[in-house]
Amino acid sequence: MKVLVTGGTGYIGSHTVVELQQGGFEVIIVDNLSNSYESVVDNIEKITGIKPGFEKFDLTDRDKTLDFLKHHKDLKGVIHFAASKSVGESVEKPLKYYHNNLLSLIYLLEGMVQNNIDNIVFSSSCTVYGQPDELPVTEKAPIKKAWSTYGHTKQISEQIIENTSISNGIKGILLRYFNPIGAHDSVLIGELPIGSPDNLIPFITQTAIGKREVLRVFGDDYDTPDGTAVRDYIHVVDLAKAHVVALNRMITGKNQAKVEIFNLGTGWGHSVLEVINTFEKISGVKLNYRITERRPGDIEKVWADTQFANQELGWKASKGLEEMILSAWNWELELKKRV
Ligand code: NAD
Ligand code: WQD
Repeated sequence: MKVLVTGGTGYIGSHTVVELQQGGFEVIIVDNLSNSYESVVDNIEKITGIKPGFEKFDLTDRDKTLDFLKHHKDLKGVIHFAASKSVGESVEKPLKYYHNNLLSLIYLLEGMVQNNIDNIVFSSSCTVYGQPDELPVTEKAPIKKAWSTYGHTKQISEQIIENTSISNGIKGILLRYFNPIGAHDSVLIGELPIGSPDNLIPFITQTAIGKREVLRVFGDDYDTPDGTAVRDYIHVVDLAKAHVVALNRMITGKNQAKVEIFNLGTGWGHSVLEVINTFEKISGVKLNYRITERRPGDIEKVWADTQFANQELGWKASKGLEEMILSAWNWELELKKRV
């Protein structure tokens, strides 16, 4: 059973390739290496004993994408991770985000329709909900005006897949990730943020290891128990496993609609200070942090209602906050050894 993983050398993609191979799939990765390294392919092989196929090209190159799919008509499905993902950069360079995130999806779908490749799993995000009116947020919550161009590309992408499925054989599962963190237990793959990270967990571990001087906590005046913002952090391997379930669901015809949407979170919200305290406890390192202004565009609190995913997919996140943060810390310690 052959499957295409776009963005498969990236953070979530690489962990998903491992789970797919361990689930019996033959994987071909397409990645332009704009935010990842080819060495990830070898590290995947070290974990699974199987080297995934790898082709380096840009999915916004229509001819290359259509040509690739023409030569891989036997694909059972596509898992589409490839996208630009920095919220801040998307506000500064909106056209880069519309171009990369939308064209890559459009050409992929065009090639899938041409070659009767039916199943797509798409990386969406909880960012499509903005600040939900009710928590935990369910998949039925209204989609509000996007807070960033990045978020807008995820909303439009979901719509593109839904509309494309109406007129042909395409089936899709849209997975709305909450906040993925941590790394593979082998510490052979993990997140490799280029430059200064935007996200909380890599910023914490980089500060603790001495790569960053101070961690800024963006606001302590939110309407939350300790005043800092609350998120639903989920381990990347738990997330990866859900992709294998989603793909199998479509291949075996268990999907209840042509396009289905699932929240991928733990169902638990944790505040920034709770994350910092947990990190200090498990690592024994005192973090240099200070409270600053709120970060523009941040929402106050969000966590997932995971009932639908738990019941329908038979999938549930297994790792708690301490285990996830330890996993992220072990990865940072491993990166230190590599330099
Ligand atoms: P990542 O940057 O590590 O991986 C994305 C990969 O896609 C990279 O390897 C990059 O080189 C590749 N890529 C980008 N544009 C491409 C193109 N045009 N052609 C070919 N390859 C291309 O990001 P990630 O954290 O693994 O995220 C994967 C997906 O999940 C993205 O769609 C992202 O928007 C989504 N997502 C991520 C998070 C998160 O916090 N990490 C949360 C929700 C959703
Ligand atoms: C978490 C919390 C920050 C850094 C983003 C995207 C979202 C999704 C995941 C892709 C917030 C606070 C952070 C720091 C801090 N990505 N923080 N100091 O903003 O929930 O989500 O990544 O789809 O779309 O928006 O994640 O890790 O940046 O922040 O205090 O140095 O940590 O304010 O409350 P976020 P994050």
